[in-house]
Amino acid sequence: MWLRDRWKYICCRDCVKRRVDNEVSCFDAFSGYGDAGLMTSITGRAVQQKKIDIDAVNIRDYTQDKHGRVDDYPYGGGAGMLMQAQPVYDACQSVMEKIPQNKKKRVIYVTPQGIPFTQAKARELAAQDELLLLCGHYEGIDERVLEEVVTDYISIGDYVLTGGELAAMVIVDAVARLVPGVLGNEQSALTESFHGELLEHPQYSRPDVWHGKKVPEVLLSGNQKHIDAWKKEQSILRTKERRPDLYARYVRLQECRQLLMKQKLLHIDMIELINRGRAQLLYFGQGQILLKDMEYEIYFHACVDPSRFPDIRTWTLPVEKIPLAVLHQEE
Ligand code: ADE
Repeated sequence: MWLRDRWKYICCRDCVKRRVDNEVSCFDAFSGYGDAGLMTSITGRAVQQKKIDIDAVNIRDYTQDKHGRVDDYPYGGGAGMLMQAQPVYDACQSVMEKIPQNKKKRVIYVTPQGIPFTQAKARELAAQDELLLLCGHYEGIDERVLEEVVTDYISIGDYVLTGGELAAMVIVDAVARLVPGVLGNEQSALTESFHGELLEHPQYSRPDVWHGKKVPEVLLSGNQKHIDAWKKEQSILRTKERRPDLYARYVRLQECRQLLMKQKLLHIDMIELINRGRAQLLYFGQGQILLKDMEYEIYFHACVDPSRFPDIRTWTLPVEKIPLAVLHQEE
């Protein structure tokens, strides 16, 4: 539906030089980041084949400071230096100016203070035309510029890295592989871990016996129906065992599905969404269900108990932020 074949300007990278002035080896390590990570293997090939486009912008190039500085001490004291608003803002603007108005874009600040990066977020970002990832160094970036430019704050985990570049690379890699044509084999992006909230089933290759361990019989049976059922069962078991949090979400989604199935014809689109592993459950309560199609960012609402249908606006959900909603209440 939406064009999503290229990202530009992944990373407002900076700061490196400042350290580099003191430690040359550090510079090598940093400049090698992008190349070593994203420009090789699958993402590298995708760039070569122009399926995606990745650019780095150096914030230092935009400073108005005559000594080339981009950082300063934080007001009120505290450890470390802060990136100043002006060079960050100008670097972002230089990129934004080149993006046509009608393009879907996000400006992401990678920070441990952001929301956790998930596969659902990766899908959401993959639906954009342009992503701009802003990487901080030192102790962070002046809050005022973040307020003006940033649309999403994302963390790749509850730990602190020395800078945002590695986090940006993780995000770009996870998003890039969802772009059609990047993986080569579309199926693998569909069936992998996290598709439809479940972890992937265990996998086996030849030989069929190794260290005395046999490949599960069903996989050798040639009966695709049985194989698919086994895979699904294993996915559920594995998720329950290893990620009880994901399993709880899965169970809740199945409860929704059961309710929707009671009026199958009315809710067939939502049921299909769940079946295809594209549904994210945003709300389930008071006889209502709100799902998000993770692929197209469309929202579906169903009232499974019309007698308890309250005013949508009383929900705590940010409904006004929803770009497109399919309201499903037909009675
Ligand atoms: N920058 C430093 N640590 C980070 C993290 N955990 N996630 C995202 N960006 C970061």
